Formats: sequence, structure tokens, C-alpha cells
Amino acid sequence: MVFADISRDLLGQCERLADVAGVRDWCRLVEASAEQLAPVETGSVDAVTVRSVLIYVADKEAAFGEFARVLRPADARPWDVFLHSSGNPNLQTLAEAMERTLTDQEQARLTRYLRPLIEDGAPTRRMAHAYVRARRAQGAAPVVTRRPGP
Ligand SMILES: C[S@@+](CC[C@H](N)C(=O)[O-])C[C@H]1O[C@@H](n2cnc3c(N)ncnc32)[C@H](O)[C@@H]1O
Repeated sequence: MVFADISRDLLGQCERLADVAGVRDWCRLVEASAEQLAPVETGSVDAVTVRSVLIYVADKEAAFGEFARVLRPADARPWDVFLHSSGNPNLQTLAEAMERTLTDQEQARLTRYLRPLIEDGAPTRRMAHAYVRARRAQGAAPVVTRRPGP
């Protein structure tokens, strides 16, 4: 994980938090502006995220050029990447969610539906709807049935 910022203080704070979280060894702290990420190698990262920084960046075109430069070229296995990643580190991956909630048959059905769409690059947004019905039989523990989206 590469953390870049022009502020040494911010990077120091980041380092302290990484220490506390026990993930310091995974982190590389880089003092650089978004417009000039020279210390970060070309094609070396899987994702770029920014929070509350772009508003301060004068040359946004240069910054986006740098983001594009440091990103690894698109993966040739889009389904595997889609399946084993999530939009947020606190969320399960799709594979984990499918494993936890669907039967083998349901997983196969969802895969048959979704995989061609992902491989054709059809979806442009990642979003899910869950339909959940619940009823409690008299004197029994709650019974929950799920119906997968597609
Ligand atoms: C509101 S703070 C956000 C800090 C951090 N990203 C976060 O989400 O907590 C704005 C940060 O943008 C950084 N910054 C301002 N201009 C920058 C630039 N041109 N390139 C990189 N970072 C910049 C500042 O040093 C500051 O740390």
C-alpha cells in the first residue's frame, strides 16, 4: 500500500496509525504531489484512491495523468478480479458473499448470468439488491428465505 501526500506531517500521522493497526510493514510512505508521483513506479499499483485532496490540486489533468501512469494495465481476467475484490476493504468479496449466502446451484446460476456481462465489460456500476423475506413459524426459531437478485 502506497500512501502519497505533500505533507510530511500527514505522512507521519499515517505511519503512526499504520503502526497502531499493525500494518506498517505493508505500507510505503511517499512524499510527493499528486501531479508528480515520480517515486511511484509506472504500472505498479492495482488501484488509486484519493480522499479530500483533489480540491487542493491545481493541475488536475497532470494528477490524473500520474494516476493513469502508476496503474497496472487492465487485468486480462476481469471475472476473477470482480469475484475476488470488493468496493470497500470492510466489505466481503463477491466470492465470499456468494459462498456464505448461496447454495452451489445458486452460485452456478448467478455465475452463468453475471460472468458474461463482466467479461463483455457491460456493467459500469457495482451495486446489488437483496430481497429478503422472513416469517416466524409459531413456536419456532425465525426462518429466513433469500432470493438472489438476477
Ligand atoms: C483534507 S486533507 C486529507 C488528508 C487525507 N487524504 C485524508 O483523507 O485524511 C488534504 C490533504 O491534501 C494534501 N495535498 C494538498 N495538495 C496536494 C497535492 N498537490 N498533492 C498531494 N497532496 C496534496 C495535503 O497535504 C493534505 O494532507
